[in-house]
Amino acid sequence: MRVLAIETSCDETAVAILEGSGGDGDASFRILGNALLSQIEAHKEYGGVMPSLAKREHAKNIVPLVRAALFEAELAKENTQAIPSDTEVRVRELLSREPDLTETFLELVREMEPPEIDAIAVTTGPGLEPALWVGINTAQALSKAWGKPLVSVNHMEGHIVSALLTRNSETLLFSNIELPVLALLISGGHTELVVMKEWRNYALIGETRDDAVGEAFDKVARMLSLPYPGGPEISKLAERARRSAQGGSITLPRPMKGDGTCDFSWSGLKTAVLYLLKERGELSEEDKQAFAREFEDAVADVLLEKTGRALDDTSARTLVLGGGVSANTHLRRVFSKEIPENFPGVSLRLPNPEFTTDNAVMIGVAGYFRAIAGDYATGALQASGTLALTS
Ligand code: KG4
Ligand code: ZN
Repeated sequence: MRVLAIETSCDETAVAILEGSGGDGDASFRILGNALLSQIEAHKEYGGVMPSLAKREHAKNIVPLVRAALFEAELAKENTQAIPSDTEVRVRELLSREPDLTETFLELVREMEPPEIDAIAVTTGPGLEPALWVGINTAQALSKAWGKPLVSVNHMEGHIVSALLTRNSETLLFSNIELPVLALLISGGHTELVVMKEWRNYALIGETRDDAVGEAFDKVARMLSLPYPGGPEISKLAERARRSAQGGSITLPRPMKGDGTCDFSWSGLKTAVLYLLKERGELSEEDKQAFAREFEDAVADVLLEKTGRALDDTSARTLVLGGGVSANTHLRRVFSKEIPENFPGVSLRLPNPEFTTDNAVMIGVAGYFRAIAGDYATGALQASGTLALTS
């Protein structure tokens, strides 16, 4: 089955075309086309993602990316027939809220005949609603123009399934995964521990009571006058401090560590950094590195302790990390050392770095599993900024 997938939940516009085969727990994928544009540079001057700018950028780029992915997949065939006028009317209606892309969209469907794909998967949440709508409206218009069914995908499920993939040259394998799977989801919007006891069936084990961990990285980075996104910048400084053995001079709290719950709180850690920075005044480069290192150490300590507790509580056989923060070098090192030592029966799956940031391959993989289970969208899709994995 071939799936065309669209992701526009935050600041990456992405389209991928996958060929999938197999079923739950034993599937494989080939990426036929993969086109992605990051908006990070556009948002940098605002120090974070601006929803209205994100929407405008998605609207400008989504159709060219669909075209690029189809060409890469060699599925772009010249159209010999005009599109029926009632289809054009319906497409215009579906795109009535996306005036910026209507004409480029119609050009694409006039120029190409419907490609040989079986389904269109699109992220419907969680994320920024104005941004999500661009992907949803485009997917619905493509579905109408090409007569292909739609699959609604939860962005966080995309992070989970893509983190479970292993690469075997050109093929992505989804195999040898033992249930239950515990997922530690750490991104700019989430800090959650979720267990999957059966495929695509999730229960929430713990979550943040305030900020998301990626948000804490970004806010602390801003306090240290580092550019957006802050996670990779903090990581670079912290690694420098570790190489030169600095950092002992600063102590930060480990919020909620050892409190008997699987929940998190990061706002106190952020405030502790703020107060310490006020006390210190002007910072040298070494001071900044020491702050970054201690902040990362505090985050890793808490995430590890809570994850250990959740592994005990759920008897999970597989642990997977997903979301943007799972790219963090220190966190990957700590989990790679501590999980096998303390939980020898648990298989740790860290996402391939190419899948830690938002992308459409992960939406295609999640969409494929939904499609083969017959979970197609019926009726109009809705963007949901806070869409939950658990019902
Ligand atoms: O999953 P993602 O790309 O977008 C959301 O769905 O939120 O996650 C973005 C978050 C940002 O907060 C960013 O600072 C953080 O992931 N991040 C990192 C690293 N790379 C990205 N945090 C820590 N270390 C990193 N290397
Ligand atoms: Zn994400």
